[in-house]
Amino acid sequence: MKLKTPGEIDAMAVAGKAAAKTLQRMKTVIAPGMTTMDLEEVAREELKANGARPALLGYHPRFSRVPYEFAACISVNDEVIHGQPSASKVLREGDVVGLDLVADVDGWLADTAITVPVGAINVKAQRLLSITQEALRHGISKAVAGGRMGDVSSAVQRLVERNGFGIIRELSGHGVGSEVHEEGIDVPNFGLPGKGIPLRPGMTFCIEPMVTAGNPAIKHRQGDPWAVLTRDGSIGAHFEHTVAITEDGPRILTLLN
Ligand code: MF3
Ligand code: CO
Ligand code: CO
Repeated sequence: MKLKTPGEIDAMAVAGKAAAKTLQRMKTVIAPGMTTMDLEEVAREELKANGARPALLGYHPRFSRVPYEFAACISVNDEVIHGQPSASKVLREGDVVGLDLVADVDGWLADTAITVPVGAINVKAQRLLSITQEALRHGISKAVAGGRMGDVSSAVQRLVERNGFGIIRELSGHGVGSEVHEEGIDVPNFGLPGKGIPLRPGMTFCIEPMVTAGNPAIKHRQGDPWAVLTRDGSIGAHFEHTVAITEDGPRILTLLN
């Protein structure tokens, strides 16, 4: 794994701020009647306005046969991650929408995601969103030098399962920095405290709980190599921050300020 210097971590935080501002803008404009392609356009404009390149546009991950063609992954309801924006996907009141993107400023990347409501959503969906976000916070609090990755993973898992929701097991967080997915760091959303790789200053990675309201089994849609959906059709939520391990504790790099 590539450990980052304090200067490199500062550079990633510049990208992280651009990414966070872009998600905030998308969250502000989202409304019934918009298409997910409208949101993709907002993502492109706002990243550019903040001096960032959309790192997912043209990105070719190992797990895919083809490169990704958009700036953002926009995942609606039972799509949990990697939904492709579409001009025919119209949002409706009550939908929950995952927004995930990676900003690149001068070769330094930051990856962040939120899940947002379209208008009013039901109480269970509200709980799913707030528990997933809280699970991310719990995981981040364990991202400290001297600890182990399992401390992060188990903190995420405990909060989610204590609240009766499901953790998708097949998908994890990852190292990030000069590439979207860097080798050597895997951040599962389940695990045991005291297990896993030791956490050291200079490590930078994404923590990204992917949580389902129902059963956590996943599936793919015929003809769509990207979207990951729940098998039972229940809704999913995804929140993600890029975090650095520093001598002074966890530093979230994808903040608005
Ligand atoms: N941002 C995603 C993540 O959190 C990566 C998307 S890869 C893509 O890992 F190719 F699907 F865009
Ligand atoms: Co992401
Ligand atoms: Co990620």
